[in-house]
Amino acid sequence: MAGLLIFVGLIALSSSLAMAADHSPLQDFCVAESNSQVLLNGLACKKASTVEASDFSFSGLHLAGNTSNAVGSRVTLVSATQIPGLNTLGISLARIDYAPWGINPPHAHPRATEILTVMEGSLEVGFITSNPDNRLISKILNKGDVFVFPIGLVHYQKNVGNGKAMAIAGLSSQNPGVITIANAVFGSKPDISTDILVRALQVDKSIITRTQAIF
Ligand SMILES: *[C@@H]1O[C@H](CO)[C@@H](O)[C@H](O)[C@H]1NC(C)=O
Repeated sequence: MAGLLIFVGLIALSSSLAMAADHSPLQDFCVAESNSQVLLNGLACKKASTVEASDFSFSGLHLAGNTSNAVGSRVTLVSATQIPGLNTLGISLARIDYAPWGINPPHAHPRATEILTVMEGSLEVGFITSNPDNRLISKILNKGDVFVFPIGLVHYQKNVGNGKAMAIAGLSSQNPGVITIANAVFGSKPDISTDILVRALQVDKSIITRTQAIF
């Protein structure tokens, strides 16, 4: 019985470590002190009396990101790095620009659920449920439509129009993190051994080495 409880406890602990939303703040705010030498989970606080409005502010989100890249999209993230006042508040924001037919490739946020609203254009969006179902839940969104990507799940967007598209997304972490699947699997430093990827993906070695060369 005690063994079972310890086992269940370990499972609960490991899952909360692997996929956890930000903790609630214990004070009104904790504006990040970028020069602090203290290392902790989050960022150290500035003295409250020195905090100013600019600590809670960011400008420039009206500007389109540069989508001239291989995937045809650009994410402009406004997290605790850009707004020190977001530290400990468990929220951030992103602007995503898409070239015609551009994609935001399959990726996951280890620390955040995302709620995305289309401001311009039309997007195909989707996320995949965890094993064993791996069900794809996808939809075409038009201007004004909102979609949710649950924390930790692999998701993507694609501009399905001939014009530009743009979306604004809220994320439930001051530091959502991004794991882009292709970059993580094929572009790790150093590389994952080719034989591991050959067996995991069940494809020829030449396909793996070519893909690793791209990333
Ligand atoms: C956009 O990025 C491309 C590729 O990096 C670069 O050549 C181009 O100058 C950039 N455009 C602007 C307006 O910054």
